[in-house]
Amino acid sequence: MHRTQCQECREHVSNKEMLNQLDEIIAGYKNMDGATIPVLQTAQKMFGYLSKPVLKKISQKLNKPYSEISGIVSFYSFFSTVPRGKYLVRVCLGTACYVRGGKGILEAIKKELGIDVGQTTKDRLFSLDIGRCFGACGMAPVIMVNDTVHQRCKAVKVAEILNHYRDKKSGPEKEQV
Ligand code: FES
Repeated sequence: MHRTQCQECREHVSNKEMLNQLDEIIAGYKNMDGATIPVLQTAQKMFGYLSKPVLKKISQKLNKPYSEISGIVSFYSFFSTVPRGKYLVRVCLGTACYVRGGKGILEAIKKELGIDVGQTTKDRLFSLDIGRCFGACGMAPVIMVNDTVHQRCKAVKVAEILNHYRDKKSGPEKEQV
């Protein structure tokens, strides 16, 4: 049986078990206005991305047309229909971060990883995305790696930050850079 790691609880469970869990989650949102986005966010956290079968299930269970669900997914950049890397690097390009050098940090990360926004490195370690304010404007410019905020980031520190995550792959956990 194909087993995969739930991105939320980090346990290895079968796809079928995860789809069953998704059923239960969707049932909790039944008949609730505005349920689509939270359900999609939860599904993406669980599976790491939103595959066609997952979107079909959400469409059926929420009783909404598939085109509506896939339209929402393609509208919001934080949803992904392709598998993402272990670490999702998001660069804030909201106003405060932009004026304090966010664009330069993005370019430095692109160069360091050899990928563009929306892409994943070949070793599936990093995916790159942009955001529009992480609510940490006072510490701008910021980037996020999964749920960790790196504040007052500098382009020259990008390699050091990413190496921290590269090292984590094979070594023990270290303090945040
Ligand atoms: S603009 Fe970047 S955290 Fe607000």
